[in-house]
Amino acid sequence: MGEPHLVVLDDARALARAGADVVAGVVNADGPVTIVPATGETPVGMYEELAARRARGDLDTRDVSIVQLDEYLGLEPDDRRALFGWMKRTVLEPLAVGAERVARLPTEGDVDAACAIFERELDASGGIDLVILGLGTNGHLGFNEPPSDASSVTRTVDLTADTIAANARYWGSERDVPTRAVTLGLRPLLEARHIMLLVAGASKHTIVRRALEGPVGEDVPASFVREARGSVTVLVDRAAWEGE
Ligand code: GLP
Repeated sequence: MGEPHLVVLDDARALARAGADVVAGVVNADGPVTIVPATGETPVGMYEELAARRARGDLDTRDVSIVQLDEYLGLEPDDRRALFGWMKRTVLEPLAVGAERVARLPTEGDVDAACAIFERELDASGGIDLVILGLGTNGHLGFNEPPSDASSVTRTVDLTADTIAANARYWGSERDVPTRAVTLGLRPLLEARHIMLLVAGASKHTIVRRALEGPVGEDVPASFVREARGSVTVLVDRAAWEGE
């Protein structure tokens, strides 16, 4: 554990390249790796960069396994808003990760009981090598909404009004945003061997500064990356860092 390694990048292109370098470093190391890739808009350019490197033969993803970070509840499996579908389009297909190497979060039946089993199996399989995270405007990681403690487990959550408002841009309007979700807990995320947090745009300025410079605590779940077990890289574009 140490201070997060903060890198401020000029623009989206530089952020995508720097993020892809971190992912490639983990993927190109020997042996199988387990990666948790955030959906959301921030990492999309980085996933495109990784797909381009793979197409050129510079990245071999055959030993990559993927664990889903978060998902809405109450949707049909093929609903356009399912985050699994988003991950499939932006990560699994472009990086050629087959279904047999993907662990999908439970969404049916007793979801909290299934989450406890999911988390035990994740631990038993060796945990997470790299988690790629975006930052909610309210400081959430995945759907670990404030307040979320560092020991929080994989579980169902009610989305906050902040997150419903922020996610409206994906689906049309706030009415289209589901109100419940399931998320990997902060506990398994903070135990990952590497964490990479990607932050872009002036709308994230206040929260990224609070997360990295304010008090560490459950009101800003992302602040706990400063107490993570493994290495932490935070890539921030200038707009988010300077707020312009
Ligand atoms: C969403 C997701 C997160 C995502 C974050 C930031 O609500 N639950 O997994 O990382 O908010 O999203 P974006 O990158 O689109 O700003």
